Amino acid sequence: MKVFITGGGGFLGYRLALRLLERRTLAGPDGKPVAISQIKLFDAAFAPNPDPRLICVQGDIADQDVVEAALDHDTASVFHLAAVVSAHAEAEFDVGYQVNLDGTRNLLEACRDLDAPPRLVFASSLAVYGGKLPAEVEDSVTPTPQTSYGTQKVIGEYLVNDYSRKGMIDGRSLRLPTIVVRPGKPNLASTSFASGMFREPLNGVVCEVPVEESTEMWILSPGKVLEAFVHAHNLPAADWGAHRALTLPGITFAVGEGVEALRKIAGTEVAKRVVFKRDERLNRMVRSFPGRFKTDRALGMGFKADADIGGIIKDYIASEGIKL
Ligand SMILES: NC(=O)c1ccc[n+]([C@@H]2O[C@H](COP(=O)([O-])OP(=O)(O)OC[C@H]3O[C@@H](n4cnc5c(N)ncnc54)[C@H](O)[C@@H]3O)[C@@H](O)[C@H]2O)c1
Repeated sequence: MKVFITGGGGFLGYRLALRLLERRTLAGPDGKPVAISQIKLFDAAFAPNPDPRLICVQGDIADQDVVEAALDHDTASVFHLAAVVSAHAEAEFDVGYQVNLDGTRNLLEACRDLDAPPRLVFASSLAVYGGKLPAEVEDSVTPTPQTSYGTQKVIGEYLVNDYSRKGMIDGRSLRLPTIVVRPGKPNLASTSFASGMFREPLNGVVCEVPVEESTEMWILSPGKVLEAFVHAHNLPAADWGAHRALTLPGITFAVGEGVEALRKIAGTEVAKRVVFKRDERLNRMVRSFPGRFKTDRALGMGFKADADIGGIIKDYIASEGIKL
């Protein structure tokens, strides 16, 4: 079975590829495990020296011919993670639409030419929600995004639904919570600080948090989201029904509580490296994303959240080998 991962050079895409190398199988069309014979990553850029068991194809997803050439005709599984992230899509309107919307359409069109309709998992975002919302957001709430990024993601979900309805793909869209703690450097996501506020202080660096302490966020750890990608892929199509998008289970944390959890685990000196410095634009954008969800549907389908923010911080410390 051949697997294709867009955004395979990115944070989650590359880790997903490594996870699939470890797992060795994915569900085939009849639901039984099939050995993975090839994992091909597609991205605009890759870090040096990727794992030699992975095939890396560099290209622009906004270019239809490039996408078609990269996708082998016998690909059975596609994970679509390539995107420009929230603040980038907001700052560069045209780039956001080219990559996040036209790129998604290019990929779906390329999937139509495959030998058989592939299973496709699309990384959407809770940013599809914004504006006036109930205290707890359920999947049945109509998305009213307040950013270009959220708009592009919800259109992507509808495309995945419609191409699935037509039998061109067997698609599934996951509305990802904010993934915390993301290792490495800050990125252009408006929620980048939610990882930085743990990562930077634990590595001896000050982190400026641009939102109010009371800001609530819906978060999930990298480990749990990788499990969710695989689980979403392997569930039978019948489990998804007519609506193939759902919000992943997560936990709510107020940013101020995160600082307190960091202090308990790593001490006052570390927690003091979190400095609140409001940026009105980012504060507005992040506070437009809801922080509380009711994810009964996803939980019923077997998706899982982390236990608490403390566990997420401890996992990050352990995975990075940080000495306190
Ligand atoms: N990490 C999160 O907190 C989070 C939350 C919600 C949704 N998501 C979604 O999950 C997916 C993966 O997120 P991530 O955190 O790994 O982000 P990332 O930025 O690390 O990965 C996205 C990848 O897409 C690639 N890309 C951008 N433009 C491209 C183009 N024109 N052609 C080909 N590739 C291109 C980038 O080079 C990058 O490697 C994205 O779709 C993102 O919107 C992530």
